[in-house]
Amino acid sequence: MRLTRTSDLWWKNAVVYCLDVETYQDSDGDGTGDFAGLTQRIDHLVRLGVTCVWLMPFYPTRERDDGYDITDFYAVDPRLGTLGDFTEFVRTARDRGIRVIADLVVNHTSDHHPWFQDARSSRTSKYRDWYVWCDSPPEDGPEGVVFPDVEKSVWEHDETTGQYYLHRFYKQQPDLNVANPAVRDEIARIMGFWTQLGLSGFRVDAVPFLLETDGQEDADQLPDPHEYLADLRAFLGRRSGDAVLLGEVNLPYPDTAKFFGDSESSRGDELTMCFDFIGMQRMYLSMARGEAAPLAAALRERPAAPRDAHWATFVRNHDELTLDKLDDDERAEVFAAFGPDKDMQLYDRGLRRRLPPMVDGDRRRVELAYSLLFSLPGTPVLFYGEEIGMGENLAAEGRQAVRTPMQWTPDKSGGFTAGEGVELPNPVATGAFGPTKVNAHDQAHDPASPLGRMRTLIERYRETPELAWGDYRVIDTDDPGVLVHLSSLEGGAVLVLHNFSERSVTASVEVPGLRGGRLLTDVFTGDTLKSAAAGLVDVALDPYGYRWLRVNTPLDDPDRATAV
Ligand code: NOJ
Repeated sequence: MRLTRTSDLWWKNAVVYCLDVETYQDSDGDGTGDFAGLTQRIDHLVRLGVTCVWLMPFYPTRERDDGYDITDFYAVDPRLGTLGDFTEFVRTARDRGIRVIADLVVNHTSDHHPWFQDARSSRTSKYRDWYVWCDSPPEDGPEGVVFPDVEKSVWEHDETTGQYYLHRFYKQQPDLNVANPAVRDEIARIMGFWTQLGLSGFRVDAVPFLLETDGQEDADQLPDPHEYLADLRAFLGRRSGDAVLLGEVNLPYPDTAKFFGDSESSRGDELTMCFDFIGMQRMYLSMARGEAAPLAAALRERPAAPRDAHWATFVRNHDELTLDKLDDDERAEVFAAFGPDKDMQLYDRGLRRRLPPMVDGDRRRVELAYSLLFSLPGTPVLFYGEEIGMGENLAAEGRQAVRTPMQWTPDKSGGFTAGEGVELPNPVATGAFGPTKVNAHDQAHDPASPLGRMRTLIERYRETPELAWGDYRVIDTDDPGVLVHLSSLEGGAVLVLHNFSERSVTASVEVPGLRGGRLLTDVFTGDTLKSAAAGLVDVALDPYGYRWLRVNTPLDDPDRATAV
């Protein structure tokens, strides 16, 4: 493996960890998490093996959309600390080998942002053209509100100026007009500002909406969206060579893949990474059915990322666990298996639950999902609390159910705050997944705990370069419950098996290039097994079991493992 490439493309085998400063650790007892508290918790992240923290929005906000409605792009919300606290955190993280990226939310602002306040004051105001206005909503304009429980249209009438403004999300989140060069310049300035303060890139919010120009009156004068995204990436590269753009693009595979950019050169010049929403959704369908086929099909369909780009994989993110890319029957299956009550579902498309309660606390099924996360090709992204097996609190509103305070200790507030009787951003989880049962402190020294196991998975993932850097192929087996893939890199290879079924199975796997009588070593236990005949190996798996097997001698023809 070429060393220069491995260290430059650090994000290819990163472990990304998403957290909200507000719900992570309160340092001053006022009930709100803050940067000082987060900084105190850095050792937890180091010991877990995190290499990149993704901060959810920490900017001043009206809190209509949990921080995704920003009133100032160049500041820290005073509830969370100061710019000084932010910088101390970034510096401490860097010192411990952790890079920091943050949400870049520039599809829209808060309606209380001074730009919008000015824009709506008159049709001739300075910032009027920073937003998207029309006299009457176009019949065939942008369709599909994102929050259908509250919004019925993406256009809102503005009383003062008598026009309508575009808002993809809540009406309190007017869309910025990227067709305006001044807006594009400002977006670059925002990126420049935070990279100057030490960020290593951004998780780009709502990318397709940011670039969307359909339905706008002057659509023909708008910049080509992909050219614009490539410009942003180039700008970022000039400012900070190792910085990344991790994009939120939830579209069918071929459409998402376009956001990697220039496939001609096979380098990728737009988003560095795109979340694999399709793979995530099919994983849940596989888990609901106890069958590997849905996920195997997704992996086969998934376009290869360009050489200098990567997919980003996840078990759940901070929003509802969206199932919008499954068909109605498939979604109904997943709802029935993992969130049958209406109250567990959101917007008819997703679940406001975390994984452990979905599987009734079955550790085997939880581990199966995380073994997939760390062994399937793509950069794994964790959401805080997953490492200790946190659950949701359905008493919290909407998506907030999965954004409850991090559980550090068995205390009432989970050690999140020392404040008594203070208001928390969201209620702490209760019951079987509350802090008395699930907390980082109790698990810290137990290798068999969820936290101990997660650390082991992360260690093995980091020690197994084939997974992040290699080519992979999905291999057929004779058992419908078992997913097998082979990741190969320069002659080294790892054979990975996952059993989605509740049966003990022995899968017969044909491994291309494997000679008879060769040893395979279990990466977790060190146990070995031998290939029976040329190219053939039988692997026993427990119910919901998984194995990562290192092929001890190079495969005859590693190139054969390049096609999926
Ligand atoms: C996507 C974010 O993940 C979500 O939380 C937010 O509501 C929307 N973008 C709008 O910013």
